[in-house]
Amino acid sequence: MDTITHPRPVERIVQGQATSDGAGVRLVRMLAQPLQRRLDPFLMLDAFGSDEPRDYLAGFPDHPHRGFETVTLMLAGRMRHRDSAGHEGLLEPGGVQWMTAGRGVVHSEMPEQAEGRMEGLQLWLNLPAADKMREPWYRDFRADEIPAATADGVRVRVIAGRALGTDGAVLRAVTDPLLLDLELAPGARFAQSLPAAHHAFVHVVRGSIEIAGRAAGARKMAILADAPSYDGVGLTAGADGARMLLAAARPLNEPIVQLGPFVMNTREQIEQAVDDFRRGALAN
Ligand code: CO
Repeated sequence: MDTITHPRPVERIVQGQATSDGAGVRLVRMLAQPLQRRLDPFLMLDAFGSDEPRDYLAGFPDHPHRGFETVTLMLAGRMRHRDSAGHEGLLEPGGVQWMTAGRGVVHSEMPEQAEGRMEGLQLWLNLPAADKMREPWYRDFRADEIPAATADGVRVRVIAGRALGTDGAVLRAVTDPLLLDLELAPGARFAQSLPAAHHAFVHVVRGSIEIAGRAAGARKMAILADAPSYDGVGLTAGADGARMLLAAARPLNEPIVQLGPFVMNTREQIEQAVDDFRRGALAN
């Protein structure tokens, strides 16, 4: 495990906003437009989780995206993805879907179950201006395809980046994202070095953690301070253990203009996306 001498303090604990999206899926939006500049290049984080079919059955029927990537981590339940680029995949517990919308995809994400628990996270990762109109890309990783490592009560699944000497499933050059699905036994500690300029947060899925003297429970997001003197993050699980997503990445420092499912750099590019979508030219 990395040795940290100047751990990042918690700048702020964020409580998400209950909302619904798609055709009426209930979810908690942890990160939205007010935090996009602060957490650049992360654009959005949604947490969904319910045992009630009426909270998720409507799913996310066909809708467009342009200009960024979506990363979906399934924790419980099964969801089927289909998109206009011809990709199809079944997301199952522990699986991760990584979709680069680039210049445009129209896709659906629909539950493949009529009862039981459905739970997961979806994170939006911005693309650099030069890559916003690239070809779409898609990959889904089964749970056993995500590189994993363990150490002293810690199990880390490396979705992106590198941790405990293990390279992640996906690497991205410009933003260099680190995305870790972390599971800690009660009282276990985890430390990870982070480049000082990278924006970072921890979203707690279950249990509780302590970071630099601040506690965060389930469905709370801790935004970590960044300053040149900090060399990483250190955290400890509470009495019931914890599962969390640790995310960090290099900011793009480019203009962010979002209209719903389109995230570009200028108003004109957004108007172009809307126009392309209306005349059926977004995704071909
Ligand atoms: Co979508």
